This record gives sequence, structure tokens and C-alpha cells, in this order.
Amino acid sequence: MRIDVVSIFPEYLAPLELSLIGKARQDGLLELNVHDLRTFTTDKHRTVDDTPYGGGAGMVMKPEPWAQALESIAKSGMTPEDGAAKKPVLIVPSPAGERFNQALAYELADEEQLVFACGRYEGIDERVIEWAAGHFTVRPMSLGDYVLNGGEVAVLAMVEAIGRLLPGVVGNPESLVEESHSDGLLEYPVYTKPSSWRDREVPAILLSGNHGKIAQWRRHEQFRRTAARRPDLLAEFDAGGLTRADKAAF
Ligand code: ADE
Repeated sequence: MRIDVVSIFPEYLAPLELSLIGKARQDGLLELNVHDLRTFTTDKHRTVDDTPYGGGAGMVMKPEPWAQALESIAKSGMTPEDGAAKKPVLIVPSPAGERFNQALAYELADEEQLVFACGRYEGIDERVIEWAAGHFTVRPMSLGDYVLNGGEVAVLAMVEAIGRLLPGVVGNPESLVEESHSDGLLEYPVYTKPSSWRDREVPAILLSGNHGKIAQWRRHEQFRRTAARRPDLLAEFDAGGLTRADKAAF
């Protein structure tokens, strides 16, 4: 997969050189390029923002530097004419976007190229979003119902969530199967040695060696936890998908 990120703070993306994602880049599993939006300006002050039409507080990002940046990225990548299966996806992080979640992380991990446009201030001139649809599949996306200062922190989260799903990035792919949200429920609690710690015992069932009973206990804990912490997820959980073992565990 290829990922391009455009930002006025390219240094913000430095953590993507570390840990699993950094290693995936070194191993050639992920090509990730960070672009400074200001290099696509033409004035002496490298201006990227201006006052909003209609008035109001804050500044809006000017359209032309964005068009230059996105056009240069579109030209440098594979186009459908070169045999790319489809247009790259342009993700615009915004609190006004579609809510990002694990299902979307899986969907985006199947793409050939993702481009992230990090807005700052009050956002990017809306005409960029319309115009970009000629080159990209445009998807404004929100991390959650709160406001960040810009898209960079959202990009760090989304690239990590997507990047770890790419083949070969996580050493043991089994660990992706039993984690929170992989099946619509939260993960069961986990324990390690010692079995007794500060007067607290590991649940006896986990020491029993009875794998069937352990699996049933874990499933029950998934339901219990989800009901307590995220009843909204439980409501969405497809009751038709419940197995007989699930019904017994619930
Ligand atoms: N930019 C500002 N707030 C954001 C949010 N909640 N999600 C994604 N991008 C953002």
C-alpha cells in the first residue's frame, strides 16, 4: 500500500517512523510519503489560509495550494490509465466526517493508495473537496465526536489502525482475530503471571486447562463487558449471527 499525507506540520507525522508502522515501511510493506503543504504555495509568505467568506471567527485553508499538492500526488501515483484498479481514496479528517471505525479500517486496508489531507484552522475551502472527486474517491472522516486542532493526530490514529491490518505487519495475524471490535464486541479481560498478585487471583477457569470452558468464559466476558461499557455496540450486534455457543454464553 502507498499512503501520502499532506500537512502544514509534517513533523507531526514523525511517530509513523516508529514501532510496527516504521518497521512496515522499512520492510517495504508500506510506502508512506509526507508532504509539506507550504511547498505548494507560490507567494513569498507561503500563505495557506485566508479569512472566511460570510464572516466569522478563524481562518480557512486556501484552495490552490491544496489543488497543487493533490494534483502532484495524483500524477506521481498509478492512475486508472496506468492500470491501477481504481482511484486513490482521499481521506479528509474532520469532525464533520463519517465516523471512522474498525470496519472502515479493514475496508481501507484493501486499497492500493490512500491520501490524507490534514486541514487546520476552520477547515479547507469546500470547493477542494468537490474538485478532488475528479482524481480521488473523497471520504471526509471523523475520529469521534470531539474537536482536534487539526487532522494530524487523526491521521496518526487512522494510519496505525489501517497499517496494522496490512499483510505481514503484525507478526502473528491470530492476534488480529480476537481483539476488540474485530467481531463487533469488546475484547475479554486478559491476565498473565503471577496467578496471585496483591491478593487478587486470576479467574480459576483460566488455570483449568479446559479450552472449551475457557472459550465459553471469554465469550461471556465479551458480552458482559460490551453491555456494561458500550451498550450501543450490543444493540448493533447482529443477533441473527449469534451461534448456539454465543447464546449459552450470553
Ligand atoms: N479534525 C479535527 N477534529 C477531528 C476529529 N474529531 N476527527 C478527525 N479529524 C479531526
